[in-house]
Amino acid sequence: MKDLILATHNPHKAEELKAMLPQFNVKTLADLKMMDDIPETAPDLEGNSFIKATTIFEKFGGIVVADDSGLEVNALSGAPGVHSARYAGKPRNDTRNTEKLLHALLNKTNRNAQFRTVITLMSAKETRQFEGIVKGTINTQPKGADGFGYDPVFTPEGYDKTFAEISQHKKNSISHRANAIKRLVAFLNEHPTFC
Ligand code: IMP
Repeated sequence: MKDLILATHNPHKAEELKAMLPQFNVKTLADLKMMDDIPETAPDLEGNSFIKATTIFEKFGGIVVADDSGLEVNALSGAPGVHSARYAGKPRNDTRNTEKLLHALLNKTNRNAQFRTVITLMSAKETRQFEGIVKGTINTQPKGADGFGYDPVFTPEGYDKTFAEISQHKKNSISHRANAIKRLVAFLNEHPTFC
């Protein structure tokens, strides 16, 4: 079974991907004892996803998968976008980020937004990127206790509950990450010689 390195410190992302890629032995940065922070200096999700993949590929080689995600709000010209994690400044704080977002949207009638993920797949042969999106709207106040980040203020299209109110199992099947991972998995299944 081939190794696939997932360029993340997040064990939940690793579990999500492991379950969808039974043909690979998925390793995380923790498994490789790589605890350094990878700088996220690019102006967009594509760039940061690429930086993460490149950093790990140059160190370990093999097959690398990296991702970067953010919330893009129409009335804010796509903000917080690539700055989602630290929208309200350092250190990262989900509650302050959400408050800043709700404040920026006060009096805005257009509440449309989307979560977007860009996954980078890198091997010696080729580099590919896969996008995943989930569209929705931003509530006027937080609802629900599950999830993380902007989940309590994001209601996905077709639902009347926020990401923090629906089950995590359901969220993980419709999320931006899930949509990007499905595209990655479809590509790997269609191109078994890619790696
Ligand atoms: P990451 O690239 O997955 O670490 O995501 C960057 C930031 O985007 C997070 O720190 C959150 O603020 C936000 N974000 C990404 N995905 C989600 C999600 O599924 N729910 C809520 N917030 C998210």
